[in-house]
Amino acid sequence: MEITLKITIILILLTLFSCNKKEAYQPVQGKWIKGTEQEKLKMIETQFRGFDKAMIEVGYRYQELYWAGEDENWEYANYQLQKINKAIKLGLQRRPKRAASAENFLDYVIPEVRKSIQEKDKKLFQNNFQMMRNNCTICHSVERVPSFTVRIPTERQSPIGK
Ligand code: HEC
Repeated sequence: MEITLKITIILILLTLFSCNKKEAYQPVQGKWIKGTEQEKLKMIETQFRGFDKAMIEVGYRYQELYWAGEDENWEYANYQLQKINKAIKLGLQRRPKRAASAENFLDYVIPEVRKSIQEKDKKLFQNNFQMMRNNCTICHSVERVPSFTVRIPTERQSPIGK
């Protein structure tokens, strides 16, 4: 092959390579999550929200847990309790300042309710559920939302039930 042709091919390849490399470092922009990597992370964090989102979920699951116990649907009760546990833990990742108030709830309250579910003991479950309810309200007081009194559910919210 002629030397000039060889050089031309090498130059073309080099240009292509450098273009690709440049493109690889361009941050991908979404439809509305835009900006630098840092700006985008901040936006995503804001959209995930704080402890309120965890609590909306916990509030719903708390009601489902109650009715699952009334129905003695222990599998569903266990499912809801696990999700309450998870929602609070994920909420604490977003708002670590609330971790101290959640400690007793995660380490004592939830395991006690779990025990009554495992034993399929409705009476024990109802007692532990009351204890859980009190602890929900206690945390609200400690975390400066004392007017958020948690009550025993009176109506079913979801289509799941016996
Ligand atoms: C770690 C403490 C803590 C525990 C435990 C806790 N909460 Fe909360 N809860 C909060 C805080 C703090 C808020 C207010 C959140 C905010 O201002 O962003 C809240 C708010 C709420 C709300 C209102 C959510 C909304 O924005 O509409 C509900 C409902 C709720 N909690 C239910 C419960 C229930 C039910 C339990 C128990 C199963 C519980 N919470 C346990 C701290 C806690």
